[in-house]
Amino acid sequence: METTHESGARGGDARGDAARGAIAVLTSGGDAPGMNAAIRAIAKVGASRGVEVVGVVGGYTGLREGAFRPLTRRVGDRVWPDPEIDAAASLGGTVLGSARELRFHTSEGRAPAIARLRGLAGLVVIGGNGSLAGAHALARECSTPVVGLPASIDNDVGCSASAIGVDTALNTIVAACDKIGDTARAHRRAFVVEVMGRDCGYLAMAGAIAAGADAVLFREQGRDEEAIVASVERAIRRGFADRGEGWARRRVLILKAEGVSMPCTKLVRMVEERLGADLPGVDVRATVLGHLVRGGNPSFQDRMIAGRLGLAAVDAVLAGTTDVMMGWQGPPGGTPTGDPSVSGYPLQVVLEQSAALVDGSSPITRRRVQLMEQVEGVLGL
Ligand code: F6P
Repeated sequence: METTHESGARGGDARGDAARGAIAVLTSGGDAPGMNAAIRAIAKVGASRGVEVVGVVGGYTGLREGAFRPLTRRVGDRVWPDPEIDAAASLGGTVLGSARELRFHTSEGRAPAIARLRGLAGLVVIGGNGSLAGAHALARECSTPVVGLPASIDNDVGCSASAIGVDTALNTIVAACDKIGDTARAHRRAFVVEVMGRDCGYLAMAGAIAAGADAVLFREQGRDEEAIVASVERAIRRGFADRGEGWARRRVLILKAEGVSMPCTKLVRMVEERLGADLPGVDVRATVLGHLVRGGNPSFQDRMIAGRLGLAAVDAVLAGTTDVMMGWQGPPGGTPTGDPSVSGYPLQVVLEQSAALVDGSSPITRRRVQLMEQVEGVLGL
């Protein structure tokens, strides 16, 4: 597919006219597996409604520059999705590219993007909280409909039980922990495995339960360094306590969220100092999964969520709806769509709920923390 650097908003030029009346879609912020599946859905649903779809290359930076590329083709009176976009739906990352555009924080920085939106049928923004804040600002400053879709492996977007990418990231974490468990059991080792989640510990919490970890550390626990070290030491001592036959093959696994500011190396060193000579033959190791967790082919669930949110986004844009995000199994009070699992929520509300998820005041965060407290005694058994 060819990339153009001319916007429909400039008017008059041939490529600009091609974008006129089209729905534009962009991916922004940290990529998430399933973004391509959402792009495919938007291209296909747009085509099915007889509307052309263009991709914005490079997130909000690309929108400022008018870096559009066609995702559909009109043949006679029919619109067809680009077969390459269809094929890309099974890939991780984003074929449109992504960016963190700091200039979008000011209205002057957004102005060139707003000029590009004139003449388009609408814009669909796929991304996390920063991207959705950008969508909210655009929606307030222009008359072109702007609709957001939640995509962030961290699951820190309000009004959506799951964001695009979360399920794949968790599958990656579980698979990695299983592999680490193989080598850990062979050597009677304890591992601290750090997973992404700068502001939100959801991946560590959910991953710990699914991987059968012995303990979990996340920022929302609000523990100081002493409490963190003590809990890891406790988990290791309990994990390697003599349990009779087969005890030697046990492994101890502790999942740590990136948002816990204590570095893994420091944590391991302090824990080893405390264990001293009490547990001969037990080593403690750390593995930081990092960006590995963000890549990979999207799971069935992420493709399904992306597809259903993409459909709702196109229909919302064509209905003239703006300043909303389509959420997956979100809280009551959203605007229903034809899909019982998908509702629309004002972006302002989404962003407020996202902030509450991160600062711990959201009932959802409190419930997550309580749930983890309930299972704390079970995890290490
Ligand atoms: O996508 C969100 C996230 O995965 C965070 O958990 C993480 O801290 C951040 O992205 C890192 O992203 P980058 O390295 O692209 O800035």
